[in-house]
Parts: sequence; C-alpha cells; structure tokens
Amino acid sequence: MPNDTILITGACGQIGSELSQALAQHYGNNNVIITDIRKPDNFQTDLAFEALNVLDGGRLVELVQKHKITHIYHLAAVLSASGEQDPLFAWQINMEGMLNVMQVARERGIKQVYHPSSIAVFGHDTPKNDTPQYTLMNPNTVYGISKLAGERWSEYYFQKYKLDVRSLRYPGIISYKTPPGGGTTDYAVDIFYKAIAGKKYECFLHENSYLPMMYMPDAIRATLELMNAPSDKIKIRSAYNLSAMSFSPKEITQAIKKHIPEFRISYKPDFRQNIADSWPQSIDDSSARNDWGWKPEYDLEKMTEDMIANLAIPTTV
Ligand code: SER
Repeated sequence: MPNDTILITGACGQIGSELSQALAQHYGNNNVIITDIRKPDNFQTDLAFEALNVLDGGRLVELVQKHKITHIYHLAAVLSASGEQDPLFAWQINMEGMLNVMQVARERGIKQVYHPSSIAVFGHDTPKNDTPQYTLMNPNTVYGISKLAGERWSEYYFQKYKLDVRSLRYPGIISYKTPPGGGTTDYAVDIFYKAIAGKKYECFLHENSYLPMMYMPDAIRATLELMNAPSDKIKIRSAYNLSAMSFSPKEITQAIKKHIPEFRISYKPDFRQNIADSWPQSIDDSSARNDWGWKPEYDLEKMTEDMIANLAIPTTV
C-alpha cells in the first residue's frame, strides 16, 4: 500500500472522473496518475495528468516506468451507441487498448488491473429478468462483443499468468459531475439535465424500456470494494454481475415529477431502442453479494432526490 501507484486510463470520462477522486482519497493524491487521450479544457483536477492513447503500448510502458505504476484501472472504451457509428474503430479501441494494458501489466509486474465490463455482454437470447451470472450471452453490439471478449481475456490472463484482474458488469451509470458519452443508458442522465433546465425531454427509448441502472456512488463503492477484497474472495475473474435498480423512462419521469411537477417527456425511439431491447431488464448479482459482500444503497427515489439536489446547485463556469 505505501508504494502503490495507480494509473487510470479514460480518466476524464464519466466513471474515470469520479473513480480517480475516490482512488486519490484511498492512495493519496500523489499516487494517482490520470490519463486520457486529452484533457478537456474545463476538466478540473489536482491529480497529475498524462496524455495517453491506449493504442500506444510504448507510451503506456513509458508512463508505467516513469511513475512506478503498480495498479492500472483501464476505463477507456467506446460505448454502445457510439460504437455502432464506427464498429471497427470501437473494436480497435476496446480490444487493442485492453490487450495493450494486459500485456504491459504482465510484462511489468503490475499488481492489479481493473477492466470494467457491462450489461452489454448480454443479448437477445439472454433471460431478461434476474439475468444469471452464467447464461446465454450472444451480444449484438460491437461494444458488447468487445466487452465479452475482454471478460474472456481477463480470465485468461488470471489463469495463465496469475495477473490479478478484476471486473464488474456495470449497469447504466447515472451521475451529475461529468456527462456520459455515447451510451444507450445515457437517457437516464440527460433527462435530469433537461428537467433541471425547465425543458421538455425527447427520449430515444420507448416509455416501457426497462434497463438495469446504478447511481454513481454505488458504482464507485462497488469498484473499490471489489478491488480491495482479499484475493481468495474473488471467485469470478471474467466479470461480476452487479445490480442496484431497474426502471423505465416512464418510471424515472414519475420520480422526477415528484420534485419538478411541470416536467414533460415525449418518446421518439431510434436505433438505440434495438440495443436496449437486447439487454436484460434486471440482473441477479448474488455472486457479488455472496463473494465480497456487495449491497447497493441507492434506489430510484433516493437517486432522483440526490441528482436533483446536486444539479440544482448553480455552477460557476
Ligand atoms: N452504459 C453503457 C452503454 O449504454 C452500458 O454499459 O453503452
């Protein structure tokens, strides 16, 4: 622990921007290096930033050596909806990027690697409700295919090279600090921005599209609990199912209306509807609960209240 130094890829993204702060609290500001393809102009951080294209394995080695990195959190990825716009590019970033990280981790004796997976690993053939840990997968998006391949590679590196790789299948993540980019579950974030701005929201999914979701504080805590659990508690090296709540656009609208009664929504499903239809509606995460004690804190009501309270605070940009 005293000599542990963390490198995060995709650190300026939705999860990275909050996970890096949580890791800095745990390991100390000087021991967390954040990387991304570039730092957005308005991105504020006290942590050391290094530019990194995850396709550049040489640059990754250079940073690992320079900062004596011991742990890598590999978050850089192209999400489900963006991935469909340029499938080969998404495959390259998600797959080659991941394999670069795995290979550097193996060769440089990295102690631990985190590589998130997603509910996108499931497909039309998967049972929709209480989706089990082990079931038919058959994903249809390039994002889901790459995440499923990534899960297999994670287990492969663990079994073959004893690399301590850990992973979670995140549901849709809702947060207010950094907007998400290019996901199918992102409607559940955008809807809050519109509601707070007093605007109507046009939803790209139909009103009864149920999807598994999670509030960011739960997602961060799950990640830290997984990574800090004793190794013998981690029985699954592909990726753990993880669950907190499920809701539809209609239900989140009702939850928002309790705080903002005049809020209005309309529905205009687009290509993302087909992606949503291929994913589970709810997830059985009993392995995570039993193996390392996972338990979510936020449900739809509690999350909605917190999102609205935080988004209502005027920002000084
Ligand atoms: N939130 C992701 C997406 O919609 C799923 O992991 O792409």
